[in-house]
Amino acid sequence: MKDMKRIAVVTSGGDVPGLNAAIRAVTRTALACGARVIGVQRGYEGLIAGEFIEMTSKDVGGILRKGGTILGTSRSERFMTDEGRRAAKAQLERAGVDGLIVIGGNGTLAGANELYKLGFPLVGVPKTIDNDQYGTDTAIGVDTALNTIAEAVGRIKDTASSHRRAFLVEVMGRRCGYLALASGIICGAEMVLIPEHPATPDEVAHRIIEVSRIGKAHCIIIVAEGWPPGLRALQHHLLTNHVEEGFDVREVVLGHVQRGGTPTAFDRLLATRMGVRAVESLLDGSGIGHMVGLHGGQLSLVPLAVATAQPKPLSPELLHIADILCH
Ligand code: F6P
Repeated sequence: MKDMKRIAVVTSGGDVPGLNAAIRAVTRTALACGARVIGVQRGYEGLIAGEFIEMTSKDVGGILRKGGTILGTSRSERFMTDEGRRAAKAQLERAGVDGLIVIGGNGTLAGANELYKLGFPLVGVPKTIDNDQYGTDTAIGVDTALNTIAEAVGRIKDTASSHRRAFLVEVMGRRCGYLALASGIICGAEMVLIPEHPATPDEVAHRIIEVSRIGKAHCIIIVAEGWPPGLRALQHHLLTNHVEEGFDVREVVLGHVQRGGTPTAFDRLLATRMGVRAVESLLDGSGIGHMVGLHGGQLSLVPLAVATAQPKPLSPELLHIADILCH
């Protein structure tokens, strides 16, 4: 394998807290190993367009605690095509880039696997607040998002208890209920609604009435974004069918608040560990075509083909706990 003299780093897909910590670790590790570093701006869109900047150690100073990504990001339809990926590969080769670190979620890493199959050496680093990346216990951003939700739900509980209200709190997770499940447990929610275990609006109504009858001062229902039939339909159902019963109901959509903010200590450490391992395993060749994963606290290298081939199932243990404590 030829020596890598110049490596690039890209963040693509939805941003998460901790991306900057990863960019910093990648840049400084590569520089320490004698390689030059190219930052790709605007995610895969910038990769296709050749939006590259040389990164120095100073460029990544003071960014460890910053949310977002200093490189920018995008959701790229074009990178999902063979033509887009070939254009990106040509841009990397034109710029003399020998290897690439891709920091992304499952869509981004699936794209990275296709680029790798075209013959470009790269290593993936998982980031997503949804914790839906197969092949790793957790990803950069999950811990910070959960802490943000816990803080927000705590505030909601204060006002809910004062007014004796039920709150439907929507958290992110289009296809995966992890954030709802975990936040339901750590916030002491009365019910959790996730795409993997659909409950009917009538079941939710009955739960709200039951919690009211028990004499609780609040009722917190955490709703995953991807739970069918969705928050609006649920609210409509409760308003039209159960107006007089149980609590007065309000709704809160936490939305992109969950994606911003300073990363927690856990996310900074995880991003730094993964960034260092990604560069070292790119340079020595052992990680090429792999994603850095975390298993039982230890980093490992998982083939991208495996990591991107299947959805990550929800933890049976967390489902069991929620069954006991959120019902
Ligand atoms: O995939 C991460 C995620 O935050 C999902 O939980 C959410 O559904 C989606 O991104 C929102 O995407 P966007 O920022 O493009 O609206």
